[in-house]
Amino acid sequence: MSVASNALRRDETAGAPPQDFDIRPLPGGIGAEITGIDLGLPLSAGDFARVRRAHLDHHVVVFRDQRITPQQHIDFSRRFGRLMIHVLHQFHLPGHPEILIVSNILEDGKPIGLGDAGKYWHSDISYKPLPSLGSLLHAQELPAEGGDTLFADMHLAYDTLPAHLRRAIEGRRAVHSYLAKYGQLQQEGNWRPNLSAEQLAQVREVVHPVVRTHPETRRQALFVSEGFTTRIEGMPADESRAILDELFAHSIRPEHIYRHAWRAHDLVFWDNRSLIHLAAGCPPHLRRKLYRTTIEGDTPF
Ligand code: SIN
Repeated sequence: MSVASNALRRDETAGAPPQDFDIRPLPGGIGAEITGIDLGLPLSAGDFARVRRAHLDHHVVVFRDQRITPQQHIDFSRRFGRLMIHVLHQFHLPGHPEILIVSNILEDGKPIGLGDAGKYWHSDISYKPLPSLGSLLHAQELPAEGGDTLFADMHLAYDTLPAHLRRAIEGRRAVHSYLAKYGQLQQEGNWRPNLSAEQLAQVREVVHPVVRTHPETRRQALFVSEGFTTRIEGMPADESRAILDELFAHSIRPEHIYRHAWRAHDLVFWDNRSLIHLAAGCPPHLRRKLYRTTIEGDTPF
């Protein structure tokens, strides 16, 4: 954690009055809704501990009605760790590089944000040596139709893995690459700029265990996704492809999924060590804009 975020944590917990808020599990067993909290106010140590526990227990928490500024969004996110700066600097919120704009809006013919973010299932920033702990996505402008975000529980996916897949991946590691789908996404739409040499240097492929242990709850989870995982290390290409395809299909079985239908001012905070997610998309003529912060995690093991 950076010096700045440690200082913030001390300031914020000192003397903040407790808030009266509810945490309710969502129907279906994945996720919880938190109401009655104002994340724009400093959280007391006790309130922060309740929120953190809910995030670990439910993997995705939905804070309703958060009328917070980008700086308040950043300050709350920083209490969980160092924030990651997305490689696509073109889509940082001006003045706030910690925020990635996720949006399909064009202004003067140019995208204001990443219009195809989350088009394939993924865990945020799994292509870095230190993938993300969690992400916080705050609704700014929502379409009247569509625009849902789906989350798949990778602990459940691991727990229910058929025996032949469990055997096939035991002790294995897989390659994660930011470029896995980049060229395909460039062909499918007009959102993705060509990457500079400097950007490419920031996203060299990495290797992570196929099954990771959550560093806080110690539960095991599958840690592969169609968005960023390209192959299983040390396996013939066709075998690796076949196993990855089976793992991807198993991960997103309907019983592993929570589908979030956005409401105005929602802030959704998910655990990238426990879940993968997907943006379902909306009709292209409807405007959608959200702000995302991403917290750095630790080395998967
Ligand atoms: C993302 O993958 O971070 C974006 C998800 C969304 O837009 O629903």
